[in-house]
Order: sequence, then structure tokens, then C-alpha cells
Amino acid sequence: MTALELIREKRDGQAHADEAIRFLVRGATDGSIPDYQLAAWLMAVRLNGMTDQETKTLTLAMADSGRRLDLSSIPGRKVDKHSTGGVGDKATLVVAPLVASAGIPVAKLSGRALGHSGGTLDKLESIPGLNVSLSIEQFIDQVRRIGIAIAGQTSDMVPADKVFYALRDATATVDSVPLIASSVMSKKLAAGADAIVLDVKCGRGAFVATLDEAEALARALVAIGTNAGRETVAYITDMEQPLGRAVGNALEVREAIETLSGHGPSDLEALSLRLADEMLRLAGAPPIDLRRLLSDGTALRKFAQLIDAQSGDSSVAREPDRLPAAPVRRPVPAGESGQVAAIDALEIGLAAKSLGAGRDRKDAAIDLAVGIVLQKKVGDAVQRGEPVATVHARTDQAAQEVASRVAAAFRVMASARPRPLLLRRVTASGTERLDT
Ligand code: URA
Repeated sequence: MTALELIREKRDGQAHADEAIRFLVRGATDGSIPDYQLAAWLMAVRLNGMTDQETKTLTLAMADSGRRLDLSSIPGRKVDKHSTGGVGDKATLVVAPLVASAGIPVAKLSGRALGHSGGTLDKLESIPGLNVSLSIEQFIDQVRRIGIAIAGQTSDMVPADKVFYALRDATATVDSVPLIASSVMSKKLAAGADAIVLDVKCGRGAFVATLDEAEALARALVAIGTNAGRETVAYITDMEQPLGRAVGNALEVREAIETLSGHGPSDLEALSLRLADEMLRLAGAPPIDLRRLLSDGTALRKFAQLIDAQSGDSSVAREPDRLPAAPVRRPVPAGESGQVAAIDALEIGLAAKSLGAGRDRKDAAIDLAVGIVLQKKVGDAVQRGEPVATVHARTDQAAQEVASRVAAAFRVMASARPRPLLLRRVTASGTERLDT
């Protein structure tokens, strides 16, 4: 078997045998197949797709390309949560401590910002001193001690995904259902949880833009998880506009703290409660009043405990003003009166990235303080000249440049309705509509 034969096979629209897929994953991991052949194969997959069997085999081979976490020493059923990535998506910072504060262990491996979408590790690093580089032993020990840890994947986990992802990023092959599904689920399977809740983002600020694509991705993710013996539930949620109001690392941590105190934006709170509730159900816990854990400070105390355990300054949970702040704040006025009909999530994400909040290359430095805070969301009434957003920037010039971009991302019309946030719930037994 050669890589050339397999490129030709996929180019001609045929399905690979399991052994062929394992050969490609081995070759990507040990470097014996050159990047140009892997890239050609990825493009053939992007154009011709994969069968369910091929996607499953690819996922399992990728999950086995490196170290797998063994969480069995942590008592109880472990439930993981993962978002496919969006703009302003700080839900993990709310959901993880909320679920842990209900007594369910949360062992969460997270990623960094890439392109227009943010990453939980960068957000957490805006808390002074906080360390996200835990060894596997430290990570598991912390979950056993305080019920929660959030850290980066170690370099020996799912090395095949690192190779494929870097090539996909450079060859316009990210937006492929089998490639996204295998990338996400290989990491989830290697992370060792017993059950998985997925938040599949759908819209301009997501990897998949249409509901049809999001449903196909959600079904693929759920099928892979279920076949691998992990109960998996996927939510499809709206990413046409940013989630919540804050976009940018420290700004998002502040908003997560507000939400953990029961004073967050209604969309972020609703999504967090729904995902947390699903995690509790999958963990086999009896239903509890999660909203109370927000309003009485229980969830926020768990977040402070997490920060302490990872060497961060936990006083930010009480005094969010201790988070890094940008020196320049520039309001963005509405160009006309009416109701906000659309806020282009991709444009807001790219605007925040251009301020320094995100990165194009995995190793690039980012500015944790800068970003954008929306004063208006879709469906809100607005008067001409009233601020729709505030740009938090390092310099006046950066603020000025980004302000016009943010203004252009807003569309105001005579009348508009709020967008539904929760769209679908996909399980092994079918798809439920949530936006009726
Ligand atoms: N998130 C991932 O981990 N992989 C993808 O391919 C897309 C989103």
C-alpha cells in the first residue's frame, strides 16, 4: 500500500479500507508520509467525503496515535463538554465550575484561540498567575481533590490531529464534516470521559454556517461517540451573532464571573444552564436547581477554588477589576435608529483578532486585555448615535480603525426579533427541535 494509491482512491470517490486509513494516520504521526501527499489526500476527502465507517476508523486511529487519559481513578461518571468554536463563547468557564459545584467531577482539556474563534486556555491565562500547563498526574490529582481542572492537552496526546490540523489550516480543508468530526472526537475519546456533551456552533462565526451542515456534523459526532461506547449528546446553537456581550480574553472572563454570580447576559446564562443540566443527566445525577448555584455564590466559589488550585489570583472572582484592562475605550455609535437585525459574528471575531485578542499561528502572542463589548444584541431597540458596542484597545489608532469595522458588522432595520439560541438537540435516537 502506498500514499499515492490512497490519494488516487479518494480522488476517484472510492471508500478506503480500515487498514488504509490506519496506514495514513501512522504515516502522518511518524512523518513517513510527506506533507504534500497528506495535503492532497485531505483535499480529496474535503471534495469527496467519507462514509460513516471511514470516519469512525479515522477517529479511532487518530485517538490511538498518542497517549490516552485514564480517568478511572476519579470516582463517578465523568462527563466532558466541548464547543466546536465560535465568537464570545466563554460557556466552558461557566459550565465547568457550575457542574463541579453540583458535585460532578469535571476533567476538562481545552484549546487556544485560532483564527477568528477564541480558546478557553487563553481566556484563563488572563487571570494573573493561572497555570494551564498541568502534567497528567497533576491534572487527575486536582480533579480528585477539588472536583475540577481545566488544562491544555499534553503534547503526546492525539499527535495525528496536530499534523492534520496544521495542514488543513494551510490548504482550505478545515470545513469538512468527516475531518472536523474526527478531529473533535479523537480528542474527546483520548480525553477519557464516560459521556460527552457537544455544542455545535452554527452560523457566520462558526466552522459550519448552515443548519443542514450543522445537523450533519452533529449526527456524525454523536454516531462516533455512541459507537465508541460514550453516551454523546450534541446541541446545535446559534453563532450568527457573538455569544453574550464580551469578545476578548479578560473581558470574557469578567463576563463569565458575572454569569457565575447570577448576573450574566441571558443568552450565555441560558446556554450554560442547559449544557450543565445535560451534563448532570449524563452523569446520572438527580436534577437540581442549577440557577440557585449561580445566585447563591456556590458556582463562583468553585471557580475561585479552581483558580487557586492552578496558582492564579482567585481574588479576581470577587474583584474582576483586577483582570488586565486595555487603556483605550472607544464607543461605537449606531448609524441609524431602529432595531438591531444582525451582528456579523465573523466580523466581530476578526475585529477583536485585529486588536490583538487572537492569533493566526498557534505560537503567536496575544493581548489578553483588548476586545469588544456589545451593548446591543439582535432584537434590541437602538437610537441613532447611541453606542452599540465599545472597543477596548491598546492605542487610539487601533480603537479608531476597529470601531468602523464593528459599526459595519451591525445591521439596523425598522423592526427585528431576537434570534433563537438553542436550535437542535441531537442524540443517538434522533433530532429534537428546540427553536419552536
Ligand atoms: N475544532 C477542532 O478541534 N477541530 C476541527 O477540525 C474544528 C474545530
